[in-house]
Amino acid sequence: MAKKKSKSAGKAKAAAKKPARKVVKLAAKSAKKPAAKKANGKSARSTMPRPSAKPFGMDGRALQGVRILDFTHVQSGPTCTQLLAWFGADVIKVERPGIGDITRGQLRDVPNADSLYFTMLNHNKRSITIDSKHPQGKRVLDELIKTCDVLVENFAPGALDRMGLTWDHVHKTNPRMIVASIKGFGPGPYEDCKVYENVAQCTGGSASTTGFREGPPLVTGAQIGDSGTGLHLALGIVTALFQRTRTGRGQRVLAAMQDGVLNLCRVKLRDQQRLTHGPLTEYSQYGEGVPFGDATPRAGNDSGGGQPGRILMCKGAPDDPNAYIYFITQAPVWESICDVIGEPTWKTDPEYATPKARLPKLNRIFERIEQWTLTKTKVEAMEILNEFDIPCGPILSMKELSADESLRKTGTVVEVDHPTRGKYLSVGNPIKLSDSITEVKRSPLLGEHTDEILTDVLKFSSKDVAEIKASGALSAPEKKEKAA
Ligand code: COA
Repeated sequence: MAKKKSKSAGKAKAAAKKPARKVVKLAAKSAKKPAAKKANGKSARSTMPRPSAKPFGMDGRALQGVRILDFTHVQSGPTCTQLLAWFGADVIKVERPGIGDITRGQLRDVPNADSLYFTMLNHNKRSITIDSKHPQGKRVLDELIKTCDVLVENFAPGALDRMGLTWDHVHKTNPRMIVASIKGFGPGPYEDCKVYENVAQCTGGSASTTGFREGPPLVTGAQIGDSGTGLHLALGIVTALFQRTRTGRGQRVLAAMQDGVLNLCRVKLRDQQRLTHGPLTEYSQYGEGVPFGDATPRAGNDSGGGQPGRILMCKGAPDDPNAYIYFITQAPVWESICDVIGEPTWKTDPEYATPKARLPKLNRIFERIEQWTLTKTKVEAMEILNEFDIPCGPILSMKELSADESLRKTGTVVEVDHPTRGKYLSVGNPIKLSDSITEVKRSPLLGEHTDEILTDVLKFSSKDVAEIKASGALSAPEKKEKAA
C-alpha cells in the first residue's frame, strides 16, 4: 500500500512539472473529440432514456418500432422473422399472389386451410401479396423499402437480384436498411446451390457425427439447418440494428446454413483436433477397444461433454418406443449412483472408483444401471435421480410435450385459434424477456393485410391503390387475365 502511495505521489509530482502549454493542448484535444463523435452519430449509450417507471412488461415490446420487409419462405427465414415479430417488430410478409409461401399448401392436414407447416412458422406477421417482377409491384416494394428497417430473405442465390432488389438498389433507396439473407452456403464453390434442411445437416458436419458407428450417417429431428440458421440470422439482424443506432446506416447480414450447422457442431470440430493427440477416451469406442480413424466418428448416444452418458431402457421398453431415459454418470455424483443402483462397493473398488478406471468398462456399467432403470418408469427414475443431483432426462414424446402443463404455463406450448383450421398447438417464443412479453397471434391469411399496408403503412391514395390493383400486380394470374 505504502509503495502504491509513493508511486502515485510521484506521478502527481511529474504531472505538476509539465508545462502549462501542453495541458492546454491536451484540453483542446479532448474538447474536440466529442464533436467528432457527434458527427459520426451519437453512441447508443448517450441516447439512452431514463429507466422506465412502468411495471415490467407494460412498456411495449423489445423491437417495437422496427419494421421488417419479410421476403422469407419455407422454414429457415420464417423462423427468424417470427422471432422478430414475437419481440414486437412489425413483420410484413410479401407473398406471391395466388400462391403465397409454398408451405401454405404443403403437408396439409385440413382441406383448404393453411398447413401447420405454415401457421406454426408465421405467427404475428402481416401478409401482402405482390408480384415482385411486375412494374407496379416494384413500385409498392420500393415504398416498402423506404419505410422498413430490415429486408429479410431466403431465396435461392441470385433470385433477389433478378427481382431488381440488388444491395445497391436497396441501399440507394434506403441507406438505413439492413438486408439479411439465408443461403445454403457462404461464398465458395457451392454458393449457387439451393439447400434444404438435410443438405445443411450433411454438409455442416452434423450427419457425419450423428448415428451409430456401425450404421450410416443420420440426420436429426431438430431442424438445426433451417430453424437453427433462422436463429443465427435473427441475432445478426438485432446486432446490425444495434450498430445502426451508432452508424446510421444499414449493412448486409448473411447466415449460411452450412456455417450455422457447423457452429452447432463446434464440439465435433473440437474432437477432430483432439484426435491428432490420441483417442477420444470418453467415446464408448475407446472402451470397446475399437481403433479410431482420422475423422471424428459417430458416437451413438455417448455424451458430448466428457461425462459418459447413455440412453437406457426403462419400465415399458422396448414396447413403448419412448420408455427410455438419458443417464449421465457425472463424476461428482458417482457415489450416489452406486448407492441408487445397489452397487455400493463400486464406490471404493479401484476398478470403478475413478473416472479413468471406469472408461474401459462403460458398457458393463451402463448395463448394470439399465438393470435398475428397467425397474422404474422414466418419470419414477427421474424423480429418484433428481434427489441425488444425478443428471438425467426422460425421452419425452411429442405427445407428452404437447400435454405438458408447465410448458403451457410458460407459453412455450400455446394453443392458437385460426379462422379456417380452428384450434391448433404451436411452439411459442422459447426466449423469455421479462420486459417484452410475447403474445402469440395466428398467422395471416394470404394477402390478408394487403389493403391496410397499402393505405395505412405506405399512404397510397385511393386512386393509386385502384391503379396498382387494376394492373394485376397484387393478384393471382387468373385474376390478372380478367383484369387485362
Ligand atoms: N413475386 C414474383 N416472383 C416471386 C415472388 C413474388 N412475390 N416470390 C418469389 N418469386 C420467385 C423468385 O423470384 C424466383 O424466381 P426466379 O428463380 O425466376 O428468379 C422463384 O420465385 C423461386 O424462388 P426460389 O427461392 O428459387 O424458390 P425455390 O422453390 O426454387 O427454392 C429453396 C427453394 C429453399 C431451395 C431456395 O429458396 C433456397 O435455396 N433458399 C436459400 C436456402 C434456404 O433458406 N433453404 C431452406 C429453406 S427452409
